[in-house]
Amino acid sequence: MASEQEPMDMEGLIRFYAEAGVDSPLSDEPVDRFAEGARPKAAPQQPRAGGQEAAAPRQSFGTGNPSVSPSPAQTPRTAAPAPARTVVPDEAQVAIAREAASTANSLEELRERLAAFDGCNLKFTAKNMCFSDGDPASDLMFIGEAPGRDEDMEGLPFVGRSGQLLNRMIAAIGLERQNVYIANTIPWRPPGNRTPTPLETELCRPFIERQIELADPKVLVALGGPAAKALTGAPEGILRLRGNWKTHTTPSGKVIPVMPTLHPAYLLRSPAQKRFAWRDFLGVKMKLRELTSAG
Ligand code: URA
Repeated sequence: MASEQEPMDMEGLIRFYAEAGVDSPLSDEPVDRFAEGARPKAAPQQPRAGGQEAAAPRQSFGTGNPSVSPSPAQTPRTAAPAPARTVVPDEAQVAIAREAASTANSLEELRERLAAFDGCNLKFTAKNMCFSDGDPASDLMFIGEAPGRDEDMEGLPFVGRSGQLLNRMIAAIGLERQNVYIANTIPWRPPGNRTPTPLETELCRPFIERQIELADPKVLVALGGPAAKALTGAPEGILRLRGNWKTHTTPSGKVIPVMPTLHPAYLLRSPAQKRFAWRDFLGVKMKLRELTSAG
């Protein structure tokens, strides 16, 4: 018969996290969960002024930001793995992100503010922030989803295999990587390259929107479905969206044409689809020509 308190299946728990894409421990110090279970229950914490919780430890395995992580006093005391938490969109953190981004007056200032923003958990698992690469004064801006492993190591967007293909696609329309501006919707690598959660996207959105506004390109290219959705709000999948001009409206109301196209990582897996991306890039070339000759 099972004892009253089953020992925690640590191996199973770690396997569960690994399969969910959580591959990085977030705490500098190991946490003894067995000892925690034996400790008497702590008094509930007083919330901080402004509705923020006390500084959370960097050990959340959730998908939100540190302010929605349970504090040690709130950590479940039973031996069983914690049930999945409902991540409540943290409106306060989104508001902080909006304020920080909207008041940045230059791309450099925006980069500093993004680096100082602690509201998104991804910052704490990533090695580096990938803000941008290329020429911020370019007429053409590419936006991907989120950095992968190589980007995380180098702190630059699109430097891995996808980036090499992107460079060749850019060259195919007569440009070079250093002539265009490149960024991501999310500037930090999600653990295990998992898809960013809607909350993470909302927390990072004010920064990429301000980045677009400050760079002020004539044409945007959304690389892949998540970037296309984040920039245009279009609900369709990328296979339906690609090749059709959409628009992005900046926070100050400027409307910029967006070409949604297939992500280079997808093209590496499905090379037969490259012909569609080629058509999309030719459309971008023609649009740039049209807009720059119009002045
Ligand atoms: N995929 C992306 O969306 N962005 C990168 O920077 C790299 C791969």
